[in-house]
Amino acid sequence: MKTSTTLATAASLLAVVEGATVNQRRNAPRVVGMETQRIPARNPIHRDKLRRRGSVEVGLDNEETLYFINGTIGTPARAVRLHIDTGSSDLWVNTPGSSLCRESSRPCAFAGTYTANSSSTYEYIGSWFNISYVDGSGASGDYVSDAVTFGPAKLDRLQFGIGYQSTNAQGILGIGYPINEVQVGRAGRQPYRNLPAQMVADGMIQSNAYSLWLNDLDANTGNILFGGIDSAKYQPPLLSLPVQPEQGFFAEFLITLTGVSLGGTSVASSSEMALAVLLDTGSSLTYLPDDMVSTIYNRVGAQYDSSNGAAYVPCNIADDDANKFTFSFSSPATITVDMNEMVLDMFLNSGRRPTFQDGTPACLFGIAPAGQGTKVLGDTFLRSAYVVYDLANNEISLAQTRFNTTESNIQEIGTGTNSVPGATRVENPVAATDGISGGGSVNGIGRNAAGRMMATRGWVGIVAAAVLGLVL
Ligand SMILES: *[C@@H]1O[C@H](CO)[C@@H](O)[C@H](O)[C@H]1NC(C)=O
Ligand SMILES: *[C@@H]1O[C@H](CO)[C@@H](O)[C@H](O)[C@H]1NC(C)=O
Ligand SMILES: *[C@@H]1O[C@H](CO)[C@@H](O)[C@H](O)[C@H]1NC(C)=O
Ligand SMILES: *[C@@H]1O[C@H](CO)[C@@H](O)[C@H](O)[C@H]1NC(C)=O
Repeated sequence: MKTSTTLATAASLLAVVEGATVNQRRNAPRVVGMETQRIPARNPIHRDKLRRRGSVEVGLDNEETLYFINGTIGTPARAVRLHIDTGSSDLWVNTPGSSLCRESSRPCAFAGTYTANSSSTYEYIGSWFNISYVDGSGASGDYVSDAVTFGPAKLDRLQFGIGYQSTNAQGILGIGYPINEVQVGRAGRQPYRNLPAQMVADGMIQSNAYSLWLNDLDANTGNILFGGIDSAKYQPPLLSLPVQPEQGFFAEFLITLTGVSLGGTSVASSSEMALAVLLDTGSSLTYLPDDMVSTIYNRVGAQYDSSNGAAYVPCNIADDDANKFTFSFSSPATITVDMNEMVLDMFLNSGRRPTFQDGTPACLFGIAPAGQGTKVLGDTFLRSAYVVYDLANNEISLAQTRFNTTESNIQEIGTGTNSVPGATRVENPVAATDGISGGGSVNGIGRNAAGRMMATRGWVGIVAAAVLGLVL
């Protein structure tokens, strides 16, 4: 993967930041834009260390396929780098005193940490912060509030968690529905204003809505625009679909997937598919029903590794321009994903790619079986889409992305219905009939802790390759 920031994206960043800082100027859109970034590989894990129990693991850097945003917390401001997650709703950061951060390799240093007592603006809220993600990682400790900045956005006070116990070396910026905060689901408390909601309350943006442009797999940066859309970053039409409620509550960004085809031929098992799928930037891969995935694997020649729940393909299938995926939603909304967006590079610590036994370079495939879990459209899908998450109206607007564009045309999202400029609501939205059952059970305002409270996040990026017969 390339790691250099392109001039093109640098130029678009300037455009966005300009759009964002014009807050003080008259007639300028009230939006807050900032660049998002995919982090280039960190120190690869030492291969020798990973030779265990006869299997050889490939150090596939997880960070390489997750999206980050820079911010600061506290007074004086401490820099933190947070992973942007539409699949969860809490912001939390690591603290240098946790046993994870104190490890000799200083794993938390690259993403930054926060020390409550070193900040003159810190306020304690309570000790009920406790989040877990479906990849098994998590953090727990205090909920606090402090001053926070992201790009041009300066918030005097925002509630967030501190991971006094943590298994994640980097903090997370969850920007989903407040009802999905762990304070609600686990501690049975009222929702608090998370970042986008607090931006609205502070008058920085008009509506609780934001747009995400992740950009190409080969580009390192995209951007997020709170309170606005950038109509230069997508190809019209921009179509709005309803978010699927779970037992009457809008809690997660679930929309209805009605079909998937590859190279123009359907791969969905049912002609009447109405499957709830989660739009989750915190998930590197896309997780679909097992039968569909096995059809796709057969069609692309993917080799499944059950120990990792992922599959490998010859890297050169990325060049197969004719074989595109089409994801269909309520008509006429579709998103096309080129094969090269579905083929992810893996590198060994030697810097080489693993190969199949015949010497063919092996890459990771971007779709994996969901099993009993939530069906997720992760980054391998989301890069090809421009997505507006309109929490105020419980709608998702989707359009085909424009990769690498240097143009920018930022417009503010106003209040009320139909507030996303240029978006058209689909006429006959299809309600999901499948895929909701795994959702949390809603109990009063919050979700019952016994339900599925876990936010989806991240694919565990260590690949045990030996089982596959990959040559390392
Ligand atoms: C975030 O901060 C790091 C470290 O200062 C910097 O290298 C990187 O370019 C920044 N990224 C963005 C998107 O501003
Ligand atoms: C902050 O300092 C106070 C007073 O010394 C102490 O009681 C408290 O435990 C400290 N809090 C944290 C989070 O370290
Ligand atoms: C956090 O919640 C999990 C799951 O309910 C529980 O096992 C764990 O003990 C909790 N952690 C803390 C520190 O309370
Ligand atoms: C976008 O830019 C990257 C980096 O220059 C390049 O590798 C990639 O091919 C471009 N993508 C498209 C679709 O043009």
